[in-house]
Amino acid sequence: KSSVSDYIEVDELEKVPQSEQKKWEKDQMASAVFKFGSKDASKGDEYELVLEDQIDFIQALQMPGSRDKIKKEPELTEQEKKKLTIEETKISLPIFPFKEDLIQAVQEHQVLIIEGETGSGKTTQIPQYLHEAGFTNDNKKIGCTQPRRVAAMSVAARVAQEMGVKLGNEVGYAIRFEDCTSERTIIKYMTDGTLHREFLSEPDLQSYSVMIIDEAHERTLHTDILFGLVKDIARFRPDLKLLISSATLDAQKFSEFFDDAPIFRIPGRRFPVDIYYTKAPEADYVDACVISILQIHVTQPLGDILVFLTGQEEIETCQELLQDRLRRLGSKVKELIVLPVYANLPSDMQAKIFDPTPPGARKVVLATNIAETSLTIDNIIYVIDPGFAKQNYFNSRTGMESLMVVPISKASANQRAGRAGRVAAGKCFRLYTAWSYKHELEDNTVPEIQRINLGNAVLMLKALGINDLVHFDFLDPPPHETLVLALEQLYALGALNHHGELTKMGRRMAEFPVDPMMAKTLLASEKYKCSEEVVTITAMLSVNSAIFYRPKDKIIHADTARKNFNHVAGDHLSLLNVYNQWRDTDFSTQWCYENFIQYRSMKRARDVREQLVGLMQRVEIEMVSNISETVDIRKAITAGYFYHIARFSKGGNYKTVKHNQTVTIHPNSSLFDELPRWILYHQLVFTTKEFMRQVIEIESKWLLEVAPHYYKPKELEDSTNKKMPKTIGRATKTD
Ligand code: CDP
Ligand code: MG
Repeated sequence: KSSVSDYIEVDELEKVPQSEQKKWEKDQMASAVFKFGSKDASKGDEYELVLEDQIDFIQALQMPGSRDKIKKEPELTEQEKKKLTIEETKISLPIFPFKEDLIQAVQEHQVLIIEGETGSGKTTQIPQYLHEAGFTNDNKKIGCTQPRRVAAMSVAARVAQEMGVKLGNEVGYAIRFEDCTSERTIIKYMTDGTLHREFLSEPDLQSYSVMIIDEAHERTLHTDILFGLVKDIARFRPDLKLLISSATLDAQKFSEFFDDAPIFRIPGRRFPVDIYYTKAPEADYVDACVISILQIHVTQPLGDILVFLTGQEEIETCQELLQDRLRRLGSKVKELIVLPVYANLPSDMQAKIFDPTPPGARKVVLATNIAETSLTIDNIIYVIDPGFAKQNYFNSRTGMESLMVVPISKASANQRAGRAGRVAAGKCFRLYTAWSYKHELEDNTVPEIQRINLGNAVLMLKALGINDLVHFDFLDPPPHETLVLALEQLYALGALNHHGELTKMGRRMAEFPVDPMMAKTLLASEKYKCSEEVVTITAMLSVNSAIFYRPKDKIIHADTARKNFNHVAGDHLSLLNVYNQWRDTDFSTQWCYENFIQYRSMKRARDVREQLVGLMQRVEIEMVSNISETVDIRKAITAGYFYHIARFSKGGNYKTVKHNQTVTIHPNSSLFDELPRWILYHQLVFTTKEFMRQVIEIESKWLLEVAPHYYKPKELEDSTNKKMPKTIGRATKTD
């Protein structure tokens, strides 16, 4: 660990007589800035974090009088003063000078690849340009897909504002479980998954005149599949315009895939960004982020900070740590506005990141990957990049899919750094070493289609009547084994027959915008007469990570509150408890507050639930309740998730039944102290080890009842189902 003294001479500092303070502050500020990023920063210099005593250090810097000093420093006040009107902003975007050329290119070509730096105005402007050029005449819409929910919502809101219309009227968005469009909608933003589903009801996309596959470089599973689908449609719908828009270098590849479609390049406008690396690897990058933020805040001229973290929990931890330190610093530092942004954040909170920063203050946005390319926040001058992202990884050998935090690619790192250079020269602080960057990061991120479970995608394609998946026109084909495994899983779930054709069950499953295992569970609730409960559980699982609130200073209270909901049979039923108790209070906000439950997540669960009930009607399943007998509920879940079964083994761990992989109950689970012999898990999350999140106790004989074609009695011999003694050596809560 380095200390303050490596960074700045605190002792010496304290000796400075009051009278000389002004002069001193000036020098120290200069030297702090200098050390933080030495002159040759553009070549990738190293910098060091102050891991200890940072508060003292900051206080030292912030001696009386220095506040005014700092206020005079900002280089961005110019920009802030220049409150641009919407029209001025539109004209200032890099894409604007190319408006006429772009319209002409779209008129002349059916397929066009568009390449332009993030923030150049592709997503918000192109649909508007095409609308003005008459592409929405004849009652046709312009569609634009986004890989991320948050982006679809926020971009639609922005465009509605620019066009002076109410969101949901002329401009709207559609995401899973939420449709904010109307008859009048002519510009529709949607997630790529939503468009994928729209093919089921409108296979020729007849209501669209233009379809923009945006953020194509993100290469999500749905986007990749859409490439094949829209390419096919373009052949028999010559009137449909297709735009593939991408932020980076893949344009050539897209062009080749779309039969050498022309590429329209929007010249970038990027200011230089100095890159800094840490000298040594950081053990705790969340903590390192907090320190870096504070360092930037006190030593660097005004300008907003963007921090890349991996998920909601991490963002919340960082936010709490930061706010705690800021509270302790009080008025000694200028105002720092801390704003989170991640997929589950309610939209009104998301919108806040776009509010201009008040003069004299600084904004720090704690974001997931979402801010890498999907969202552009103006006035970001500093980027902090710990170098990680959360990704799903599917192992086709074990059939296990797990969410884990992995190092990002060089392409991602460069994209992140670029976010600092949009409005002025910026700085990017990488919380890893230059050596790591050079030797440890892959060049590019592996496209999702090559690393996740394809069950969902295959079911959708089958439902679209595409039977020969091996010869589907993939930009990059998925690994053969993954495809085969997906087919096998769907067969085991009863969605496909042995010819690989969709069954009636499969057709019903495809109605639900959820994982095939979840869809099967919903359908199985009919047989077990517990559709009310299963629908609630499904809705709760879809927002699960964000249901329990656990503030650092009230952890004990929060955990006690949480325990009150625990159900002996497991987490799915605990979630059911939460929902039903909330419902019994008539969906009270106060109740949520008292029980450390996130009201907004519950509200979302309620919305999702409503949508699911509608879908249940569509597949003609009656809503019936069977709360008294949880065996039936658990059997319905097992009917969908019989792949996710683990059996107790020595050492407090579990082994998956089919592949004998070691897995552990997550410490948050209500079964963490119980250790039933047989359990079913909802999800695997890899941190220090492979953790099962959301587990329920099952009986092994149910597996023979719900999946006789998949399990043989011999595999399930040890079916005593008795609990294990609690004294057995096992994982601890701190794992
Ligand atoms: O798609 P591309 O990355 O090329 O740019 P964009 O998303 O269309 O962003 C263009 C401009 O709109 C940027 O200056 C954004 O800051 C602004 N914008 C905004 O203010 N609010 C949003 N919700 C989205 C974009
Ligand atoms: Mg965009």
